[in-house]
Amino acid sequence: MLSREDNELVCRIGPRTPMGEVFRRYWVPACLSSQLPKKDSDPLRLRLLGESLVAFRDSNGVVGLLDELCPHRRASLALGRVEDCGIRCLYHGWKFGVDGRVQDTPNYEGPKFKDRVKARSYPVHEAAGIVWAYMGPPEKTPPPPRYAFMDVPDTHRVAFRINVKCNYLQLAEGGFDSSHVGILHSNMARPGWMAKEFTPNPDVLNPAALAVDDNAPDLELEPTDFGFYYSAVRIAGKDASGTEQMNVRVVPFIMPSTRIIPSPATGFTVFETPMDDESTSTYIVVSADVPIERSKIRTILGLDDPRLYSDTDCNWHQTWDSNMGQNRSGMKENWSGLGGVQQEDAAMSLSMGPIVDRTEEHLVPADLAVVSLRRILISAAKAVAAAGDPVGANTDLSNVRAVDRTVSADTSWRELCPGHWVRSGAARGEKAGEPA
Ligand code: FES
Ligand SMILES: [Fe+2]
Repeated sequence: MLSREDNELVCRIGPRTPMGEVFRRYWVPACLSSQLPKKDSDPLRLRLLGESLVAFRDSNGVVGLLDELCPHRRASLALGRVEDCGIRCLYHGWKFGVDGRVQDTPNYEGPKFKDRVKARSYPVHEAAGIVWAYMGPPEKTPPPPRYAFMDVPDTHRVAFRINVKCNYLQLAEGGFDSSHVGILHSNMARPGWMAKEFTPNPDVLNPAALAVDDNAPDLELEPTDFGFYYSAVRIAGKDASGTEQMNVRVVPFIMPSTRIIPSPATGFTVFETPMDDESTSTYIVVSADVPIERSKIRTILGLDDPRLYSDTDCNWHQTWDSNMGQNRSGMKENWSGLGGVQQEDAAMSLSMGPIVDRTEEHLVPADLAVVSLRRILISAAKAVAAAGDPVGANTDLSNVRAVDRTVSADTSWRELCPGHWVRSGAARGEKAGEPA
């Protein structure tokens, strides 16, 4: 459980809040590139870290991210015209470039005025189909983000944005909770559950397809320079030669709210980016060594149900009005009554309410990584509030990958990870002490 004070500290992300200042030290996804599909296309209203913004792509194809409201008399620039390398407010025609500079003020001709006024703007970096924003102090701007999925061809990667109406942390916690995979996702993880038999799901793209039937994995956690690695080790019986095997799933937690979930053939890099305290944009970037079909991933995630989701506005419509989309009459064959990984995960987080009251929880050892996630975030909030720096803002993440492998039982799971250790001896498999 968390105290009420710590729960407030870790959940509130608006301007000038401690956790909001943590998020503002990293590049975060602001929207998909496909939401600004071409030069001078329609502007996009955004909520990001509790701020109202407008994104637009100018006549050169460069993306700008400005305060939504015009600095003149505060009309929304999201109604403006995107033209001639800028965005023009409809009300009195003031026009701004991607850097926020005033280019034109038709109702005032003071010669120096354009230099005195500026729309608030944030730096933008576009890569891998995502528009990234940095909203922190300019002198702390990290290098552009570097993730492994940025190094695969576009055909080997698909990205989704899903706007969910609850706080980022309850969504993020679901990613560090290996023991729910074989239960909530029973249909995908243990397809024989109805007959009480374990039949492995052969779909190598599905992150909920468990290799073995073990819902009480051994969990360990190792601090890194980007956050931590979280491993779940499941006993896998003997191979053909009689050697004991184990299945290892390692999920990297990357500050401030990112995880990489493995499947045997892919990595699902998931960003829980707060829109405000009570809504979150979940970005799911799936990448592989081979081409991936978007429609296949949509089906795995359950994004192919038009009642719940559309690529057009990216809003997620699972509510109690439709019982979260649950089909109870189908629950003899479908364990959850829901259709896909995202439907199941989002339903659990949404069912907690907009911000869950963590003073009422009863945690067990299977919640080890959830506890560690909260601790690292709370300590980052306290560090930044005390003028320190959070971990990982400058880390190159291009070799950080999730692991899902079945290996001989005498292997250390740490050997399967590419480093980033902060503790000497970690790579040799020496046990960590108290997690970060
Ligand atoms: S309110 Fe935008 S130009 Fe006047
Ligand atoms: Fe899940």
